[in-house]
This record gives sequence, C-alpha cells and structure tokens, in this order.
Amino acid sequence: KNKIAIAIDGPAAAGKSTVAKLVAEQMGYIYVDTGAMYRAITYVTIKNNISPDNSSAILNELKKSDITLTKEFDVFINGENVTDEIRSNEVTQLVSKIASIPEVRKEMVQRQQQLVRNRGIVMDGRDIGTHVIPDAEVKIFLIASVDERAIRRHSENKNKGIPSDVEKLKIEIAQRDKQDMERVTSPLKKAEDAIEIDTTQLSIKDVVNQIIKIVEQEV
Ligand code: C5P
Repeated sequence: KNKIAIAIDGPAAAGKSTVAKLVAEQMGYIYVDTGAMYRAITYVTIKNNISPDNSSAILNELKKSDITLTKEFDVFINGENVTDEIRSNEVTQLVSKIASIPEVRKEMVQRQQQLVRNRGIVMDGRDIGTHVIPDAEVKIFLIASVDERAIRRHSENKNKGIPSDVEKLKIEIAQRDKQDMERVTSPLKKAEDAIEIDTTQLSIKDVVNQIIKIVEQEV
C-alpha cells in the first residue's frame, strides 16, 4: 500500500490529538503532535526564566534543544520527560505567544518536515496543511463549538484530577484561538483543499471512521 501524509489542523481542544492517534494506530503510521513541540520550548522558556519577549534568547535555546516525541506519546526536551508539565496552565497560557515568533516557527517547521520525508505519518497542529505539508495527500480541518470544546476539556481535566472551571475554559480556548488565527506568520487557517469536519455532535469513533474513509481513497 501507498504510504501517505495526513495533516490534521483545527482550533484548540477540537479533539485533534485523540483522533490523530487513533487514525495513526489504524494505519500503522507514526503520529506527530506539533503542539507538543511548541509547548516544550515554552516550558523551557519558563523554566530558564527567559522573558517571553526575548525572541532571540528563545530561538537560541530552541536551536540547542533536542525535542523528542516517543512512540508512547511521551515528550522529552533535552532528556527531560515533560509529558505532564507541558499541559500545565502556565504553559498553555504562554504557548501561543511563543508560537507567534517567526524564527521559532521556521525552526519548528524545518524539524517537522524532516519527519515527513518517508510519509506514513499523521501530523496535527495549526499550520500542517497550509505550511508544513502543503502537499499532504489528506488534509482534515477539525472544528467544534467553543462550548463543546470547553466541556470536553473540562471532563478530561476532572478525569485527571486537575481543578477545572468550564466558564474559564471557554474564555481561555477562545483567547488561544484568537491569538492563533491573528498571528502574522502561518496563522491557524483551513487549507483550501482541506476537508472540514464539525465534531460538535460526533463521537470520537465517528470522526475516526470518517477520516479513515477519506484516507482509504488515497492509499
Ligand atoms: O495543539 P496544542 O493545543 O497543544 O498547541 C498548543 C499551541 O501551540 C497552539 O495554541 C498554537 O499556539 C501552537 N501551535 C502552532 N502551530 C502548530 C501547533 C501548535 O502554532 N502547528
């Protein structure tokens, strides 16, 4: 079978990573969470007390940082396992600012494109179909209402034992989307040739099945 690249983009908490992991598993493909890469450098920025406005210091730090995403979906930066740390509120609130630095994006996109060379990949993020893999054989744009996304994230938090406030989540999600859509360099945007799926009323299984159907026509 022909190995392809599958790009999954969309706003915050639309279920991209959940769905992308399942699609990758069914296809025997690797899964790459590009948001985790931006979160990892954000984590290091905070940890090293670098000012979020100091773009050149952040870029310096990134250039010497090794970011590894494992098959078990663990995230390492410079050998440190930061899988849980990168999901903290502090990182979530700062990541869009760090991800808006053009030079940081350039470096990340280069690293991401290295991973795509052999195809057989599902990659999720904000600019995968538009910039990272413009020639992806399948492009999906996942959306859901802000209310639904906040409710999903809220129950995820509760399951993990993380304190959570659904109204606050709505505001945070809407704010992060706004920042991601309004940035100058590769903003969050549906690629012209992407297929949009509104998951508001759909189960995870429904979404995965829809994507697999689209993928099956390409392989
Ligand atoms: O996917 P996730 O919500 O973990 O991404 C965190 C943040 O990283 C996004 O809100 C966005 O600012 C940034 N990001 C990006 N480009 C990507 C993936 C994530 O700018 N391809």
